[in-house]
Amino acid sequence: MEIIPGILEKDWLEIEKKINLAKQFSKNIHIDVIDGKFAPNTTFLDPTSFTKYANPSTGSGLFFEAHLMVEEPIEYLKPFAEAGFRRFLGHVEKMSDQVEFVAQAQLLGEVGLVIDTPTPIEALEVPMDDLDCLLVMTVKAGFSGQEFMPEMLKKVKDLGSKTNIPIEIDGGVSDITIPEGLKAGANRFVATSFIFNPSASSGPQNQYQVLCTCLQNH
Ligand code: DX5
Ligand code: ZN
Repeated sequence: MEIIPGILEKDWLEIEKKINLAKQFSKNIHIDVIDGKFAPNTTFLDPTSFTKYANPSTGSGLFFEAHLMVEEPIEYLKPFAEAGFRRFLGHVEKMSDQVEFVAQAQLLGEVGLVIDTPTPIEALEVPMDDLDCLLVMTVKAGFSGQEFMPEMLKKVKDLGSKTNIPIEIDGGVSDITIPEGLKAGANRFVATSFIFNPSASSGPQNQYQVLCTCLQNH
């Protein structure tokens, strides 16, 4: 079970600020990568900037996962791996060859396939045994700060009955929604606005702690 702080930003300086906050309480960091074609939004797209935090040789001890909301995520694998990313989460919606994506990603780190909210679990074409994890979107991919869609949890439940690999949920994760996600069988929870929202009652570390406590109490 883990809470993974998410970062969805256009500017490197904002990303850097959040990495420096997140690293005080989490070893894992989820970076949203959106190319403007997959969804009507664009994030910072240059992986090389991450090297100083993500590359294991820097001794930062951080583990970065890239959530690739892009057309043909396979093209992002090498550059992100070179920057030190260790887990690659590719959406199936604009991926022409799932088998090839998984095969290439396996050589570079951990791999997971992602299904957006309109996508059924039947769209997953690769045997679960070939994957390290799955990611089920609980908001439409593209923006943070959207409302959690509880109806997506049926997919989590169905996938959980087919495999034991970790199932991550992403979007609208909060102290209110985590218990529902847990009940459905999710075991990784990405949270962006709940952790970093400047209008939250406490700072990011505290917000993160609130979510961890939620996991422990359920
Ligand atoms: C949505 C992104 C999510 C998003 C989550 O496209 O993949 O990671 O940043 O944001 P919150 O936690 O605010 O819903
Ligand atoms: Zn994400």
